[in-house]
Amino acid sequence: MGIKGALVVKYRLPAGLAGLPARVMINALVIGASGGIGSAMVAEMAARGGNVTSVSRATDGLDVTDPASVDRVLSGLEGPFQTVFVSIGILAPDGTAPEKQIAALDPEVMARVFAVNTVGVAHVLSHLPRLLPKKGRSVTGVLTARVGSIGDNRIGGWHSYRASKAALNQIVHGVGIELGRTHRDAVIAALHPGTVATFFTEGYDPKHGKVSAQDAAKNLCDVMERLIREQSGGFFDYSGREIPW
Ligand SMILES: NC(=O)c1ccc[n+]([C@@H]2O[C@H](COP(=O)([O-])OP(=O)(O)OC[C@H]3O[C@@H](n4cnc5c(N)ncnc54)[C@H](OP(=O)(O)O)[C@@H]3O)[C@@H](O)[C@H]2O)c1
Repeated sequence: MGIKGALVVKYRLPAGLAGLPARVMINALVIGASGGIGSAMVAEMAARGGNVTSVSRATDGLDVTDPASVDRVLSGLEGPFQTVFVSIGILAPDGTAPEKQIAALDPEVMARVFAVNTVGVAHVLSHLPRLLPKKGRSVTGVLTARVGSIGDNRIGGWHSYRASKAALNQIVHGVGIELGRTHRDAVIAALHPGTVATFFTEGYDPKHGKVSAQDAAKNLCDVMERLIREQSGGFFDYSGREIPW
């Protein structure tokens, strides 16, 4: 594995830790590595023996609202990657907040949420077939959110964010079906990380308990290591429990 771009940061396991069971964390790729959960995943994967490549908007200019930047950065990566983690997402564009009710919906704001969470992440996933090994196990985790579950929605609100993640769940599910045809042992899953203390949740009501990004990363790595091929295309929380669509 190697990289063509100079902007991609690589982390290697300290020599003293070599020999730990690497499982699928051999060559790992984190896309959206500048975020709270993304950066914690880079550290956790490295601690588990992964040779981690990380890319982000902040460090590499990969802006999912600029398709050319996605193609430039991801085409510059040479896999295969046995583990891929996609951590990109926004709750609402800067200067706005999620709608409390449908009457507050602003179509332009909704389109911007979809441009990042749905279209942008789908475009990232379009590079997966080339980045994953054709043979042998690989696991791709894509952060969506429990609030993207239609079956679990009991309180309404947050329409743009919920719908953007529900649509992304559909895409992850479809990619799982397609990968099953070409990359027999590939697993992809939509993952809910829990409520995690990051920039993303800064505005949340303090009554919501939050876990640290480090704990979330441990949980998510555990889930990804345990996922089996038959679960590919599914939607799971931080403890590996399936979430209804
Ligand atoms: N935190 C939670 O409680 C929680 C709960 C459920 C789901 N999630 C999901 O988890 C994911 C990560 O959340 P987080 O808590 O780590 O949030 P965060 O710290 O705000 O990180 C968000 C990440 O998304 C990237 N990003 C935003 N807009 C982008 C764009 N246009 N192009 C490329 N990258 C862009 C940011 O990149 P830059 O920093 O480089 O700009 C950053 O890496 C999100 O998809 C979120 O929906 C989080």
